[in-house]
Amino acid sequence: MLIDGHGRTVNYLRVSVTERCNFRCQYCMPEKPFSWVPKENLLSFEELFLFIKVAMDEGVDKIRITGGEPLLREDLDSFVKMIHDYKPDIDLALTTNGYLLPQVAQKLKDAGLKRLNISLDSLKPEVAHKIAQKDVLSQVLKGIDKALEVGLGIKINMVPLKGINDEEILDIMEYCMERNIKVRFIEYMENRHANIELRGMHGKEILSRVKEKYTIRALGREGASPSFNYIIEENGYEFGLIDPHKHDFCESCNRIRLTAEGFLIPCLYFDEAMSIAEHIKKGDVESASHVLAQVLKDKPKENRWSEENPNEEDISSRAFYETG
Ligand code: GTP
Ligand code: 5AD
Ligand code: SF4
Repeated sequence: MLIDGHGRTVNYLRVSVTERCNFRCQYCMPEKPFSWVPKENLLSFEELFLFIKVAMDEGVDKIRITGGEPLLREDLDSFVKMIHDYKPDIDLALTTNGYLLPQVAQKLKDAGLKRLNISLDSLKPEVAHKIAQKDVLSQVLKGIDKALEVGLGIKINMVPLKGINDEEILDIMEYCMERNIKVRFIEYMENRHANIELRGMHGKEILSRVKEKYTIRALGREGASPSFNYIIEENGYEFGLIDPHKHDFCESCNRIRLTAEGFLIPCLYFDEAMSIAEHIKKGDVESASHVLAQVLKDKPKENRWSEENPNEEDISSRAFYETG
């Protein structure tokens, strides 16, 4: 079992396989970064898997593949298969913008992927285009249909932004309700890479939009998930609210991150990150395991991000998309 310096059990590893993305969401990566990590600095799937095995052997039983956009990495299904074949019972999931799903959903399912979290910020083509800065909607909706068709579990993530998609909270929820998919509304996390004019909706404002039509009851947090869940009394539909401004899910935080370059990141910000790349490239899993122990020991009590000062120097210059 992996226990961090604050006594929390860590059983969830998020693995970012690339920081690149084919969208330019205004709240995440509005501009192409000055430079991408050179391809030769990326760990291969075999190298990433070498570390993942260590983590699984030591108690990780939930793995989420993230990016950037993870589906940009070629032959991702072979990576999914490596993890699945080693521990078929593992909770193996992936977070995606959905654009490439029509082509790869079946392959991912066959390789052993269980669940997908897909971003869907609007059902209006022009609004989706405005947010992602690309004409994405029809392809994303096809991707969702395809994922449902092949039998992958799905959750939808929506980031409501004032004056942009805030009128669509109920529409997105009802789209998900009809398909029996859970939606999680995510409060926008201010960050220095995003379009500075963006204003996110606060959790209370999001809930009041839902309450205009439905009666809701709080269910609470599901284990260590950042999502606080609610039920609609009229029909039993459950949805979630992810409220990073509260920091209250930090106390039960169960996760660490591994980047494509081989950094182990203990919290959303990069400060205590340590690299396992050199060890893994030499096949030295014992040293990688020592780095893991150190990162766990130093895992912060809560994230240092705050709404008021998203650009303070102590907050890493690493973008949200790099830490997945
Ligand atoms: P589930 O396994 O479905 O619970 O996935 P998840 O919610 O862990 O994953 P997902 O990739 O869908 O993340 C959804 C949102 O949760 C992200 O956009 C973040 O806003 C938030 N989030 C995830 N992990 C963390 C974390 O460690 N700290 C903070 N502050 N927010 C996080
Ligand atoms: N604030 C809130 N959510 C964000 N996401 C990406 N950037 C931000 C941000 N700045 C969301 C995406 C995706 C999830 C993993 O993170 O919409 O669904
Ligand atoms: Fe890409 Fe996701 Fe960031 Fe949008 S939110 S730019 S889809 S990584």
